[in-house]
Amino acid sequence: MTAIEMNGKDLSQKVRSDIAEDVQQLKEKGITPHLTVIIIGDDPASKSYVRGKEKACSETGMSSDIIELPSSTTEKDLLTRIDGLNKDETVHGILVQLPLPDHINEQNVIESISPTKDVDGFHPINVGKLMTGQSTFLPCTPYGIITMLNAYDVTIEGKHAVVLGRSNIVGKPVGQLLLNDNATVTYCHSRTKNVTAFTQEADILILATGRANSIRGEHVKSGAVVVDVGINRMEDGTLSGDADFPSVAEKASLITPVPRGVGPMTITMLLKNTITAAEGLDA
Ligand code: GUN
Repeated sequence: MTAIEMNGKDLSQKVRSDIAEDVQQLKEKGITPHLTVIIIGDDPASKSYVRGKEKACSETGMSSDIIELPSSTTEKDLLTRIDGLNKDETVHGILVQLPLPDHINEQNVIESISPTKDVDGFHPINVGKLMTGQSTFLPCTPYGIITMLNAYDVTIEGKHAVVLGRSNIVGKPVGQLLLNDNATVTYCHSRTKNVTAFTQEADILILATGRANSIRGEHVKSGAVVVDVGINRMEDGTLSGDADFPSVAEKASLITPVPRGVGPMTITMLLKNTITAAEGLDA
């Protein structure tokens, strides 16, 4: 079998053109959806992600601003800033780019963002809503993955979904979303024994470990749907997923490439969450 590629770039463009229409409709009601991003320090990768978010906002007609703070910023200063944004009615979505410097407690920061402006979906109230199957802001990468699976008509109900990785940002929430859609979900992680025994049983295989090219064709069931969340920068400067693409694509029925797979969907779902926040529909 040779897999069909699930092209996240093309799907993103489609979803973003719908978002641009939503923005237009909100503007006609006097609301300009606005996202504020806070970035602390000068990690080049974080800066590049944040620029991508700003560009995507402006392309869809949304407004955004980036608050750049030095790495010496105290947790108290950051919490005061967030409090101001929580109270500012012109700001609909707040995103604090992670990771944060070691002296700032990430969980305190996440919990200080109003759940109604938490477009990352990281606040414990929104995580709880996700777990109990209530409508809420979904974390952007998992939301993008489910949107892709739906767009490519992948049946989730009754399937065995295996998630490699258990991060709060990707692994745990994507497994929960698949469970909410009636998949049987197995999580594998660094302490799992004999991971291959699980990957070979997966109808839907989500790769989110950040280990470049670590999953090969022999690890995958024939006809599986493979979603590769890994974005690994190789020594030669190219990007690779967690899958060894050629051999996995030989076995799978559908696969996301890297780049042009899950990555573009993540920012798109951030835009969608910001629209939801501006519409005042959630949380
Ligand atoms: N850093 C890497 N991914 C993310 C994300 O989805 N949200 C935030 N806030 N920071 C990140």
